[in-house]
Amino acid sequence: MENPAARAEELRARLRDASHRYYVLDAPTLSDAEYDRLFRELEQLEADHPDLITPDSPTRRVGAAPSEKFAKVTHGRQMMSLANAMTEDEFLEFDARVHRMLGEEPVRYVVEPKLDGLAVTLRYEKGRFAQGATRGDGLTGEDVTANLRTIKMVPLQLGGRPPAVFEVRGEVFINKRDFVRMNEEREKAGEPTFVNPRNCAAGSLRQLDPRITAQRPLSIFFYEVGETPGLTFATHWEKLALLRELGLRTNPENALCESLPEVKEKYRRMLAMRHELPYEIDGSVVKVDSEDQRRRLGAVSRTPRWAIAWKFPAEEEATTVEDIFVSVGRTGALTPVAALKPVHVGGVTVSRATLHNEDELRRKDVRVGDRVFLRRAGDVIPEIVRVIVESRPAGSRPWEMPKQCPACGTPVVREEGEAITRCPNPTCPAKTVSRLRHFASRLAMDIEGLGVETSTQLTETGLVKTPADLYRLTYEQLVGLDRFADLSARNLLAAIETSKTRPLRHVIYALGIRMVGEATAVSLARRFGSLEALMNASVEDLQSVRDVGPEVARQIHDFLALPGQREMIGQLLAAGVRPDPEVAVATEGALAGKTVVLTGTLAKYSRESAKAEIERRGGRVSGSVSRKTDLVVAGEDAGSKLKKAQELGVRVVDEDGFRELLK
Ligand code: IVH
Repeated sequence: MENPAARAEELRARLRDASHRYYVLDAPTLSDAEYDRLFRELEQLEADHPDLITPDSPTRRVGAAPSEKFAKVTHGRQMMSLANAMTEDEFLEFDARVHRMLGEEPVRYVVEPKLDGLAVTLRYEKGRFAQGATRGDGLTGEDVTANLRTIKMVPLQLGGRPPAVFEVRGEVFINKRDFVRMNEEREKAGEPTFVNPRNCAAGSLRQLDPRITAQRPLSIFFYEVGETPGLTFATHWEKLALLRELGLRTNPENALCESLPEVKEKYRRMLAMRHELPYEIDGSVVKVDSEDQRRRLGAVSRTPRWAIAWKFPAEEEATTVEDIFVSVGRTGALTPVAALKPVHVGGVTVSRATLHNEDELRRKDVRVGDRVFLRRAGDVIPEIVRVIVESRPAGSRPWEMPKQCPACGTPVVREEGEAITRCPNPTCPAKTVSRLRHFASRLAMDIEGLGVETSTQLTETGLVKTPADLYRLTYEQLVGLDRFADLSARNLLAAIETSKTRPLRHVIYALGIRMVGEATAVSLARRFGSLEALMNASVEDLQSVRDVGPEVARQIHDFLALPGQREMIGQLLAAGVRPDPEVAVATEGALAGKTVVLTGTLAKYSRESAKAEIERRGGRVSGSVSRKTDLVVAGEDAGSKLKKAQELGVRVVDEDGFRELLK
């Protein structure tokens, strides 16, 4: 290395720029692999030359030792909180007061999503992240610098031309998906789960050990500045633009509104899209845009008169549990479900909520007749948060899991150490119905018209015992069923027919293999290309698939080894189900975008199969070697093409090398 100091600086600049493009501009230019490569090079360089380490190096995010307790930080400028408007009328009162105080002046507003997270303030000195704190009581907060450093979206060094001292404020939060994933992992590990994303974000940020924070997928949006000596703004909108220039992420949903109707419209749009957003929001924050107007409006104690949180209608409602019944899933799992007095929550009517399993139900102690709080969090299924014990009717009894399967009467089993109670009967009709429903669902075979009622009818009449039987149904059989008219029979048959050419990944998903969700089904389809190949895959083959670990590989293998399943899949194929292999083209990996020439004889691959393997990985096979060739695969007795490749300096691999590349 000529000049390690210069190289380290260059690497830092490139990594910083890549993070900025990724997190702030949402337009990445480096692939994850390239980022990792540069990152590791910098790590190595810093390990070899410790004197080159700078505190703002991207490698320095984690490293601080756990602290005993958080130091207190006094905020240079108070961190205010917002008054709430619960209804449109209350919001209009806020607007009216603004206009009363400002006279005839026009007022522009900035409308921002109100994130449900945790307010923090970050101090940058000479552009370097120096200190970060929670809001605390608004005057004093806790020093969480080491924890904030672990959040990748927090620049350790500001871009642009930062002022000498710059304090910026924002909200730390966690995405809904990350929250769900984290809770799943915690549940598996036997750790207590978080109640909601907000608690999860707060708990993660207030960790005494920053190494724990570093493992939590925290995000941040910035929305205000604090103490900034010598820096003034004319408008909030302009302030947000500066934040972005400095590399501080602002919410892309923020909107500048010229008039009251625009504000209302923006609020409605946010309300409508709240469940599509990756994070939870509980309202809009409406802020006066002009800083001069803000100064004149002032504040009442700790809340400014120039901003308000216009909240969305509650997503938590109270209702009554009318019954608790058990539903039997396709694997025989018995799930207790609460039948509720229908209630409107978060924009939909809810009449059922899953109680997951016996332990969960015991923990909450939900009983028939109870008043309960129901919550709909994001696109998550409605959930009973807690029982209002005070209004529990006298004489109510704790709920008991039935000893027998409600569908077939077989005694149920709950394995030692398992949370799930199951019906062990392989021919339980409830399992057949659930399996059919799964098979027909939208992400599976997408057979419209095969709802609970029809699935039950088909199962009870014995017309359908396995999904493969669907493909043998006739018009006469269907119209012979109760309440089955000519049109619905023809529609159902047509939907079944269409499903025969569903893309392979949906067919794999439809099989209902335990632990094989949508994403794994896609990976399996890409890797194997056909049901036949999947059926013949060994555990090792399966394990070589992206996101398939040893446990999932074993599940898949065991499932496909069951004689009943093999027979069913055989019947599907015999009935004319021809999954569309939709050979997906990889955009990453050793062969993606590469031009490859095959020459000589390969022991384990025919020309066709070698070509297919390359193409599946996004490569192209060409017949002749030129300067544009990226790779030559040379088998036994390779001749002139190999020689040409060597002359041109094109990379050559033998069969073993080829197999390595395919891994
Ligand atoms: S501005 C005086 N903007 O809501 C202005 N706050 O009750 C201070 N919040 O403590 C905050 N999203 O934690 C602002 N776009 C947003 C916000 C937001 C969420 C939180 C923040 C604050 C609380 C106010």
